[in-house]
Amino acid sequence: MIVVSDTAALAEHLSPLRHRADTIAFVPTMGNLHDGHLALVNQARAAADAVVVSIFVNPMQFAAHEDLDTYPRTLDDDLSALRKTGVDLVLTPSADDIYPNTSARHTAIHVPKLGDALCGKDRPGHFDGVCTVVYKLFRLVGPDIAVFGQKDLQQLLIIKRMVADLSLPIDIQSGATQRAEDGLALSSRNQYLSASDRAVAPLLWQTLQSCGATLTATPDCEPASIIDPARKTLEQAGFTVDYLELRELSTLQLVDSVDQECALFVAARLGDTRLIDNIQLAASS
Ligand code: PAF
Repeated sequence: MIVVSDTAALAEHLSPLRHRADTIAFVPTMGNLHDGHLALVNQARAAADAVVVSIFVNPMQFAAHEDLDTYPRTLDDDLSALRKTGVDLVLTPSADDIYPNTSARHTAIHVPKLGDALCGKDRPGHFDGVCTVVYKLFRLVGPDIAVFGQKDLQQLLIIKRMVADLSLPIDIQSGATQRAEDGLALSSRNQYLSASDRAVAPLLWQTLQSCGATLTATPDCEPASIIDPARKTLEQAGFTVDYLELRELSTLQLVDSVDQECALFVAARLGDTRLIDNIQLAASS
């Protein structure tokens, strides 16, 4: 496995890879890898002849008050985990390398509408930061396939839209959300949870499942009559709910019944830790 920390040196390492591999799959990450990331890497390996992973904590997608400085950085452990999965190349650039004039002065990519709802509302500019770095990494790596997790469903939909709008020749594939045994979606931020909050956290997925099942079984019901009590259940358990919303998948517009492809999206905080999850729903027949 080759580790390249300098984007100027990347092309020289990519060219022998391209020579021997017909297809390259790419998994962008911010490091602190867990089984969710490794599942994406395994999916990438099954889909292509060579796999490139990036590890870059992207300052442009963090607001000033967010956890950029404390975001867990575990490069040595990440590299050992990636070595075991048979990754060909890992790119670990510095912020100065990606943003020579700082991220604040960097050209930004904005995907309208899809990036404004849900997490975009609570984290203004977040998806511009994500799209900008992902676009830049796509340009540097030149993959045929890129794999993103369904846990960040809004991010996945936005990246797909960016790739379509900018006619990038990359097949965006999605990887199923990996969960702990009790259902909590794996996330680097789970480690911030106190023991008591960790015990409560699985209620998020349980609520999505039960609420999703009721919405699907009673398509004529006003969604608010099902979603509002679910929100209260979460709040009574100690969550601060940023959103719990039923939205259609292609536009992320709010919908008032499960008669089209949609998903129930949630973001909720336990203490200082913000957790997100979603469940995709389809009409029952
Ligand atoms: O999902 C993430 O870890 C990040 O948003 C990504 C896609 C690596 C961009 O920084």
